[in-house]
Amino acid sequence: MKFFIDTANLEQIKEANDLGILDGVTTNPSLMAKEGIKGTNAIMAHYRAICELVDGPVSAEVFGTTFDEIVEEGVRLADIHENIVVKVPMIKEGIKAIKWFYENGIETNCTLVFSAGQAILAAKAGATYVSPFIGRIDDGTWDGVKLIEQIVGIYNVQGFDTEVLAASIRNPLHIVKCAEAGADVCTCPLSSILGLLNHPLTDLGLQQFLKDAKKME
Ligand code: G3P
Repeated sequence: MKFFIDTANLEQIKEANDLGILDGVTTNPSLMAKEGIKGTNAIMAHYRAICELVDGPVSAEVFGTTFDEIVEEGVRLADIHENIVVKVPMIKEGIKAIKWFYENGIETNCTLVFSAGQAILAAKAGATYVSPFIGRIDDGTWDGVKLIEQIVGIYNVQGFDTEVLAASIRNPLHIVKCAEAGADVCTCPLSSILGLLNHPLTDLGLQQFLKDAKKME
C-alpha cells in the first residue's frame, strides 16, 4: 500500500517525506485554504513547491463544476508539473471530464466518493485513482472500511485498473484496516502516520535496553 499525505502544509509534507516512506500528496480546496493561499498565482506556486518536495503524484483539485471549467482548469494544473494528478469531484460533469483527461493522457483522482456505484463509474471513465472518504462515512452510520473492501473486490473481479485511494483517514487504525482491506493507497494526516509508531511496550522495552546498554559502557 502506498502512503500519501493529505495536507497542503509544506512543513508536514517535508516531515513525512523525511521519514522515507512517502509516495505522494493529496490536497483539496479546504486544505489549501487552511494554508492561507489566495489567488491563482499563489495556488500554482504552492503546487509547484509541493512537487519539488516530493517525488510522487500530487493531487490538485479543480474548483469548476462544468465540463469546460474542469477540463480548462485541469489542463492548467497538469501543466505545472509532470507529477500533478487532477482531482475531480464525483459529479456528472466530472465523469465526462475524467474520460476526456483519460483520452488525453492526464492522470485523475475522482474525489468525494461514498458508494460502490460511484466507484464503478469513476473506473469506467478511466480515473487513475478513486477516493472513498472513509472517515466521513464513519461519521454517519456506516463503516468506511467496508466500502474500501467492497470497491477493492469489485475492481478485482472486473479487472479495473483504477487504484483505490482511501481518503478521509482519521487515525492509525484506519490505515491498518485499509491495508487489510487491500487499498492501493492511503492518504493520511501526518498525525495518523506518526501514530503508527506508537506502542507503550516499545517505549518500555527501549528504556530497559538503554539502561542495560549503559552497563556495558
Ligand atoms: O482530501 C480528501 C479527504 O481526505 C478529506 O478528509 O478529514 O476532511 O474528511 P476529511
